[in-house]
Amino acid sequence: MKEYREYISRSPEETAQIAAEIASGLRAGDIILYEGDMGAGKTTLTKGIALSLGITDPVTSPTFALVNEYPQGRIPLFHFDLYRIDSYDDLYAVGFLDYLDRGGIIAAEWSENIPGLEQELAQDNSHRVINIRIEKSGDNERRILLSGNIICPICSGAELLRATVKQTGEKICVCEACKALWTEPKITPDNARIFENYMESKGLKPYWNELETGEYI
Ligand SMILES: Nc1ncnc2c1ncn2[C@@H]1O[C@H](COP(=O)(O)OP(=O)(O)OP(=O)(O)O)[C@@H](O)[C@H]1O
Ligand SMILES: [Mg+2]
Repeated sequence: MKEYREYISRSPEETAQIAAEIASGLRAGDIILYEGDMGAGKTTLTKGIALSLGITDPVTSPTFALVNEYPQGRIPLFHFDLYRIDSYDDLYAVGFLDYLDRGGIIAAEWSENIPGLEQELAQDNSHRVINIRIEKSGDNERRILLSGNIICPICSGAELLRATVKQTGEKICVCEACKALWTEPKITPDNARIFENYMESKGLKPYWNELETGEYI
């Protein structure tokens, strides 16, 4: 299932605050694909994310280096600029895919240069692909549009089902792999609950067949 969020920023400082909120939901293995024109604010947003991850080194645009690595935060950050890359083959040649296994967060500017990149990367369920589109809506105003595939925050499973608790009629979502469950619309490690605890809190037996399962999300 796709999750969408929209933010409006009226200054670089507000963009940094938005970055902090985004960063709080990030984890190792996430891939941020930016889209947006020159001066949209991709590097500014990345600076804010880096700060929230506890990175104290100055974050600069990787335009000439292709990638800047920041290993010293809570989660390592790999900041790419794909401005000069225009195909998936080139991306492979410069070693982008090697970074997928390094347990960090990848943040890539100019991802729109590589057609189909999001779909290609999303095939691998061990990574979340988060698309962040930044549009200039005024001199200092920016629309920041975030979308990403939801996966289970407990086990990273992608087989998520809608279900109804038969006895109460409550609508929930469950992860088929680890049986974490949550109520819509947003899933975070904080609101995901263990199936057994949840059912017992409702005075119900923790049996799977107490749920009416519906379609995959
Ligand atoms: N609300 C805002 N959020 C972010 N940046 C803003 C905002 N208002 C003005 N700016 C300015 O816009 C510029 C954004 O530059 P930044 O380097 O982050 O863009 P970029 O998208 O990374 O561009 P490039 O494609 O050239 O790398 C900065 O000069 C920043 O001060
Ligand atoms: Mg930039």
